[in-house]
Amino acid sequence: MKSAIITGASSGIGRAIAYELAKNNYNLLLIARRENLLSRICQDLENTYKIKAKYIVMDLSKNNDFSYVKNYFLETFDSLDVLVNNVGIGYYGQIENISLENLEKLFWTNLFSHIFITKELVPIMKQQGYGIIVNIISLIAFFPLKNWSIYSSTKCAQMGFFKSLRRELYRHKIKVINVYPGATETEFFNSLELPYNFPKLDKAEKVAQKVIKAIKRNRNSEVFISFSHWLFHKLSVWI
Ligand SMILES: NC(=O)c1ccc[n+]([C@@H]2O[C@H](COP(=O)([O-])OP(=O)(O)OC[C@H]3O[C@@H](n4cnc5c(N)ncnc54)[C@H](OP(=O)(O)O)[C@@H]3O)[C@@H](O)[C@H]2O)c1
Repeated sequence: MKSAIITGASSGIGRAIAYELAKNNYNLLLIARRENLLSRICQDLENTYKIKAKYIVMDLSKNNDFSYVKNYFLETFDSLDVLVNNVGIGYYGQIENISLENLEKLFWTNLFSHIFITKELVPIMKQQGYGIIVNIISLIAFFPLKNWSIYSSTKCAQMGFFKSLRRELYRHKIKVINVYPGATETEFFNSLELPYNFPKLDKAEKVAQKVIKAIKRNRNSEVFISFSHWLFHKLSVWI
């Protein structure tokens, strides 16, 4: 049976991807901080889809022993088919208010955690001779918005890192799928003091369905959630 690891799987897009993968018969290892949610989701996934669903409680906003994830995975599952680098938090504010503490937290959560988890797990995929790395980035990587500069920089860096890594992993038959959601209805906005609302929010399930479709295609790809998002990204060279 195939297996996948998802970071930031206790809510929103990560949780929706967990349900879609479970529906498609994947065993799952979920990572986030809120144990009550992770435990409830795993139980529900195991009961509903008859798969193996385990979790690790980990705060990804700082340095960790990421080899723990690899060792736990190897002890519990057979093969690593998919890694979903999904964890991410937002930051909205003017440059005068940016602190080193916030910068570090944002970069650890949105970039460094992805780099270090991927670094731990790529050797397993190389040894297998297959594997898919899915990265949940954001349309903001193409489309700059006022007061979103730190968040935007983490997402541009995530995109650059994984586009380059794709070339490095090409000959090992490891695929890299980059996903660029626009504003999506999740807990993401709860901790941000936004003076406006985004006019239209996608459902997390819609993003998850696009992700599963791309995984099934098993190709290096750039995934946009709708035609208008794809068009935004094409027009971004003029912004
Ligand atoms: N929502 C949007 O509009 C939107 C648009 C484009 C891209 N994205 C990207 O989509 C990804 C998922 O976000 P979402 O919208 O689904 O938001 P969400 O509902 O807030 O989910 C974030 C997930 O990350 C986990 N998480 C946050 N901080 C963590 C930490 N320090 N350590 C471990 N886990 C942590 C949360 O779980 P715990 O709190 O339990 O740890 C939760 O499971 C992010 O990368 C985000 O940047 C979102």
